[in-house]
Amino acid sequence: MFEFRIVPKIIFGPGSIDKTAEELRALGGNRILIVTDKGLIKTDLVKKLVESLKGLDLAVFDGVEPNPKDKDVENGLRILKEKNCDLVVGIGGGSPMDVAKIISAMATNPGNLWEYRGIDKFKFPSLPLLLIPTTAGTGSEVSRAAMITASAEKKKTLFLSWHLTARTAILDPELTLKLPPSITIWSGMDALSHAIESYISKMANPLTDIYAEKAIELIVNNIETAVKNGNEIETRSNMLLGSLLAGIATANARLGNVHGLAHAIGGKYDLPHGLLCGVLLPVVMYHNLKFCVEKLRKIAAILGEDVSHLPSEKGAKRAVELIKELGKKLGLPEKLEDIGVKNEDIAELVEKTDIIPSNPRPTSKEDLFDLYRMAITGSF
Ligand SMILES: [Fe+2]
Repeated sequence: MFEFRIVPKIIFGPGSIDKTAEELRALGGNRILIVTDKGLIKTDLVKKLVESLKGLDLAVFDGVEPNPKDKDVENGLRILKEKNCDLVVGIGGGSPMDVAKIISAMATNPGNLWEYRGIDKFKFPSLPLLLIPTTAGTGSEVSRAAMITASAEKKKTLFLSWHLTARTAILDPELTLKLPPSITIWSGMDALSHAIESYISKMANPLTDIYAEKAIELIVNNIETAVKNGNEIETRSNMLLGSLLAGIATANARLGNVHGLAHAIGGKYDLPHGLLCGVLLPVVMYHNLKFCVEKLRKIAAILGEDVSHLPSEKGAKRAVELIKELGKKLGLPEKLEDIGVKNEDIAELVEKTDIIPSNPRPTSKEDLFDLYRMAITGSF
């Protein structure tokens, strides 16, 4: 038995951003809060969007920071209440979209933000929400998750609820044409981690597998070109589609230890989420190997490797090696110590790491120590 949901209406394709005003009118509401960040608000992209919404009543909150904190939610929520907004638009990478999700849910669910941390805590449907990703990475536009960092504890905290989903998602690959190579690599590796973690998840089902397999294929076949020739619309479309499909798989099958570790490290060191995912992905695949041999073997085949003549475990190992090689080709660091993560912080990081039940290998504290040691030193 399994369940499967795709929640938002999805509008995909070059130029689809021009449909935003029409979609917002269809959602109803009197005043819109646009949630974004200081970098994006200055770009022609957002200026053009705001221009196209002339005639609609708008308020803007552009204070979202990377690895967004509780204060970002509080500041945005204050503006929403002051201006009486009843519709929310999130535009940006994962951070503005996650904050937009939480603001729209906190507008209808009374009390303190932290009462709602964890799984299925929001009681009431959120305000209508429209999400527009500007990177091909988080899949937040179709997921039911949002990550907010508790500033006091420096801990990234998961909010997971179907009340955190958008009504409409507009995915326009033209918005990703100008992304610099670093963001293209990091967000692409985040999306690839979503695809692989949902594929090997204990909660995977035949439908999530279809989305995850296609996502892996699209991302791996396009990421290098997207980095080298960022202005190719077809390549950017394929990356955005891969990220979307991975997001749908993740919304249903959830994630694993790549994200458990990446969130703990991201909370402490404030490092880019996708960069951490890219470094952690082969380590976690290796650690999980014996618990998802067939799935890893299939990943090797999706990556174009003929593993039919190899014993199962060897075939699975090839998938780990191929992902490691991809990281090298993209110039990712091979170990976490290269980006400042320290051995002496492992005990603290283990304390801050959530055990993720959908990870294929049941994970003890000892396993977490092993994973951090392998990821920091790069020896596995
Ligand atoms: Fe992620």
